[in-house]
Amino acid sequence: MTTSAAASSPSAAFNPLDLRHTDDPYPRLAALRRERPVSTPLPGWHVVVRDADVRAVLADPALWSSRRNNTSVPDTPEADRELALSQLDPPAHTRLRRLLSPAFARTVVAELEPVVRERAETLAGRFEQGTDTDLVAAFTVPLPRAVLAAFCGVDEADAVAYERWAGTFTDLLGQRAHPEWPAFERWALRTADGPALNGVLEQLDRTEAVTFLHFLIVAGVPNLRHALGNLVLRLLREDHWRAEGLPEAIEESLRLDPPALWQMRTATRDTTVADTPVRAGERVIAVVASANRDPARWGADADAFRPDRPGVRAHLAFGKGPHACLGASLTRLQLRVAAEVLTRRYPKMRLAPDFRFRRAGDFMSRGPAALPVHLE
Ligand code: HEM
Repeated sequence: MTTSAAASSPSAAFNPLDLRHTDDPYPRLAALRRERPVSTPLPGWHVVVRDADVRAVLADPALWSSRRNNTSVPDTPEADRELALSQLDPPAHTRLRRLLSPAFARTVVAELEPVVRERAETLAGRFEQGTDTDLVAAFTVPLPRAVLAAFCGVDEADAVAYERWAGTFTDLLGQRAHPEWPAFERWALRTADGPALNGVLEQLDRTEAVTFLHFLIVAGVPNLRHALGNLVLRLLREDHWRAEGLPEAIEESLRLDPPALWQMRTATRDTTVADTPVRAGERVIAVVASANRDPARWGADADAFRPDRPGVRAHLAFGKGPHACLGASLTRLQLRVAAEVLTRRYPKMRLAPDFRFRRAGDFMSRGPAALPVHLE
């Protein structure tokens, strides 16, 4: 059977833990949306692909728990302090999110625009004319690290170390055992006592504050790198390389190429999802990358890039419900400023003729590993 025949067969599965399935997940997901809206590629793991079902799962933390994804962590308030915000359920999640939210408000984040622009201009100013530039190495990797450092109030003395941590702490597993952890923790404890993030950290327990500063790197660096890479690629390929209309083009890029492909939840009791039985303790994988292209929500041209699409901001790239991304405003700011800087400095930028998409990212995320471009 050919790859495309396999992808369109009703028996095609989407295994979220198989990188071959997430390299180009879209044909497979389209077949599942049509033929099998809930599939079970591994015992106890149910994959949900339709927009309405993904939204229903993400909206209901009482039934679909984030905390119970982490069965190896004891269910105590002490253990909760070492869990990321995204791993908690109400009421612990509600309390912490309420304390942290003011630091992420659109108006607060907007004040960072001059810094984001300065960092983006500095990086873009270093590209060498006349040679191919890999935008991933030269721009999409360093920019999110520099912006997050500014957002967290990292001073000059800690800048080099923070850049290193931002490249090191890319997931939530086992970081406290990492050799860099003690130095990171010392910085985080100092930061937690200071005015960073509008002073919100002062209201947190110290362990919670350190956990959150670590989680910000995990949540804010790799996803942004992929979002930037996906956006540049999309704009160049769609012949939309201009500063005009960027906010809409950015939303359409996030809809079509969400950096975070899926979210996991655990059933708190025996239930059903889209009429499929799910037992307490089993996982549901809510595939936002599929929901974002569901014709039932987005129409027959759901796979097309249409920045003028009505209601495009309703995509699920930032999740939905109580865990919806706190960093969405900072992300939108960064994507817009970065694309403004690149399109204005390099209006004739184009992809290297031999460019082939190679995917970077873990199981959950997806963006280009390299983006070789000609600048003129
Ligand atoms: C393109 C970039 C980004 C994408 C695609 C993205 C995506 C997401 C998604 C899908 C969630 C929901 C997770 C869930 O439902 O379990 C989330 C949560 C979160 N994101 Fe982002 N994110 C991005 C950038 C950022 C940035 C830059 C920051 C911070 C500086 C950030 C901070 C957070 C936080 C704190 C949460 C947890 C919210 C909660 O659990 O209440 N994100 N993000």
